[in-house]
Amino acid sequence: MTIRVGLIGCGLMARAHLPGYEASRNEAEIVMCCDNNLQLARDTSAKLGGTAVVTTDWQSVIDNPQVDVVDVCAPHFLHAPIILAAAKAGKHVLLEKPMAMNLAEAREMVTAMDKVGKVFMVAQNQRYLPEHAPIKKWLDEGAIGRVIAARIDGNQFLSKSYPEGHWLFSKKLAGGGVIRTTAIHKIDLMRSFLGDVRRVTALYSTSGLNPGMDTEDIAAFAMEFESGAIGEAFFTFAAYQNPIPTASHELVILYGTKGMINNINGWHMHSTEVEGYKNGLTSMGLPNADYGQSFVHEVKHFLDCVANGKTPATSGHDNLKTMAIIEALYQSVETGKTTLVEHT
Ligand SMILES: NC(=O)c1ccc[n+]([C@@H]2O[C@H](COP(=O)([O-])OP(=O)(O)OC[C@H]3O[C@@H](n4cnc5c(N)ncnc54)[C@H](O)[C@@H]3O)[C@@H](O)[C@H]2O)c1
Repeated sequence: MTIRVGLIGCGLMARAHLPGYEASRNEAEIVMCCDNNLQLARDTSAKLGGTAVVTTDWQSVIDNPQVDVVDVCAPHFLHAPIILAAAKAGKHVLLEKPMAMNLAEAREMVTAMDKVGKVFMVAQNQRYLPEHAPIKKWLDEGAIGRVIAARIDGNQFLSKSYPEGHWLFSKKLAGGGVIRTTAIHKIDLMRSFLGDVRRVTALYSTSGLNPGMDTEDIAAFAMEFESGAIGEAFFTFAAYQNPIPTASHELVILYGTKGMINNINGWHMHSTEVEGYKNGLTSMGLPNADYGQSFVHEVKHFLDCVANGKTPATSGHDNLKTMAIIEALYQSVETGKTTLVEHT
């Protein structure tokens, strides 16, 4: 049976999701395209062959009995109202990250979706990058021993990607800046590699380089994982250059008791244990962050969960733990203190 999809928000990320549906033509069809910019909804429908109904009213997508699932690529402040309405109507949901504006909202959304027993997946696309599964396997097999430290880093210039006045520049509409919007990717990935985080210490600032931005565009923070591993992170939306020699311009270094894995100039490993990796950092022969592919795998995983009643790897429940880390980071800045991550 074809899964009928209503797309809510037809901006940048919706366009990134489309190849996932194109690759799943036998399983799913986008039947509605919604954006409050009607032209964008029309353009998206046209790209799909013109049969999808267009609207500016997201509630009408949810109310439509011909829609089985909603794929929500809308601004952050709309995530909770849309998902709460979708739960009420019994729709399955694929929702772009971050799940919500804060942890309380996220909890309410997960509870509401639990009640109706539909699939609720958060689109943490980096978890679906093909290279991350083999890395996780190496880690679980102890190839670099016990992971004792991790470093993550990401550099972007927000106003080069989005126009002045865009909702992402506004704390009220986005719920924060570089932490909630971008650092969340690597935080979520590190959780999947290293396990949960116990406490965090954070600093942030607003550079003034992104005109009109009233929330943080530079953040530095430390994390202590439940395992005892220490994480160091730096993320900015105010970088003229991308200094990180990786395809994604984001850095990952994992330090183990028996070696190291990092993604500099492609994924490399040194292991005192594994043949072929004993003489220093050696290419792991993995692809390096083909971002487009991550969305295809993500959409396919979601559709598979809907069709076969599976729980997504990045379910709403799983994502609460990521949201709790984000919440603790903001609290740490506000209080000036190291902050325990709430249990979810
Ligand atoms: N996974 C990633 O790598 C990644 C990258 C960028 C953004 N995102 C996430 O994707 C989501 C969307 O971001 P984006 O970059 O596509 O933003 P965008 O502004 O390009 O798209 C959002 C769309 O929502 C529409 N919209 C606004 N209010 C609406 C309403 N009331 N009803 C219907 N449509 C409405 C806007 O017109 C816009 O077209 C966010 O959650 C963002 O954090 C994820």
